[in-house]
Amino acid sequence: MTTQSLSAAASGTFLIGGDLPVRRLGYGTMRLVGDGAWGEPQDPAQASRVLRRAVELGVTLIDTADAYGPEIAERIIGETLAPYPPGLVIATKGGITRQGPARTEYVGRAGYLIQCVEMSLRRLKLERIDLYQLHRIDPRTPLEESLGALQRMQEQGKIRHIGLSEVTPAEIEAAQKIVPIVTIQNRYSLADRRHEQTLAWCEQRGIGFLPWYPIAGGKVLRPEHPSALPLERVAVKLGASVAQLSIAWLLRRSPVMLPIPGTSKMAHLEENIAAAGLKLSEEEWAEVEAAAAEGPQ
Ligand SMILES: NC(=O)c1ccc[n+]([C@@H]2O[C@H](COP(=O)([O-])OP(=O)(O)OC[C@H]3O[C@@H](n4cnc5c(N)ncnc54)[C@H](OP(=O)(O)O)[C@@H]3O)[C@@H](O)[C@H]2O)c1
Repeated sequence: MTTQSLSAAASGTFLIGGDLPVRRLGYGTMRLVGDGAWGEPQDPAQASRVLRRAVELGVTLIDTADAYGPEIAERIIGETLAPYPPGLVIATKGGITRQGPARTEYVGRAGYLIQCVEMSLRRLKLERIDLYQLHRIDPRTPLEESLGALQRMQEQGKIRHIGLSEVTPAEIEAAQKIVPIVTIQNRYSLADRRHEQTLAWCEQRGIGFLPWYPIAGGKVLRPEHPSALPLERVAVKLGASVAQLSIAWLLRRSPVMLPIPGTSKMAHLEENIAAAGLKLSEEEWAEVEAAAAEGPQ
């Protein structure tokens, strides 16, 4: 296993939509706000420091959503990082409303999504959002209405690229008939392979895949998780942490993989970014696979 300097640059570059370069290892901001993605951060100054450090460490893809807080993660990003350095991509999402800690509802009505885009632009202090992701398909709204609204925002120059979240290949194909889709953000990690089919679909077409819960939301790090001990054994042997193995495994899993691990802590951020330099050999990758397979899939 090789280790390089502490920089997201070691993860390599991916071109979103064929024209938007990002370093493959990014940073997710859901953990910057209160528990259950609800309310202000416990330590707002620390949240800003973590964001600034992510950029210092070479991260060029920051994932957020209006539903984190709600509004709070975007507001902190805008206040902390704007005006943004060249090449920094802030990817946000709309279409999930939040009624309390971990309580959500999907809304895909055109008027609502247009307001979401306008408010995200305001909070993020941007004139155009490089990557806007429909957070969920609203089953009560025709897809043509939701994506038609985002397409209008794109035509007006307020969105550059459009992505989807938690979708199947059939849903992406239906969406592609309405508007070009350049990224997919689905739940995926060493410990959670429910979206293998969607990942394969994306890989075949060179569409970026942002795995959310890339370290299983931290669960795989807790001793009660069935894969935790086997993974810990491999991690100790390879001189890494289980969080780092999870990220290195993802980076090797597919060239379209763009992990966005989330943390509220500086030490965890630095540990996670260092995983960009962990290149697992074929044998090591197989060992990690075998350890993960000792837990449920
Ligand atoms: N599209 C969607 O529907 C969706 C849903 C959920 C999340 N997301 C996005 O995906 C991103 C990643 O997901 P996530 O943040 O929920 O889960 P994750 O990255 O799999 O795990 C984050 C959890 O692990 C802990 N952690 C992180 N690094 C660690 C380390 N090195 N050592 C020990 N613990 C560590 C964090 O706690 P600490 O804060 O204590 O480090 C946090 O509890 C989010 O931030 C968000 O941008 C998208």
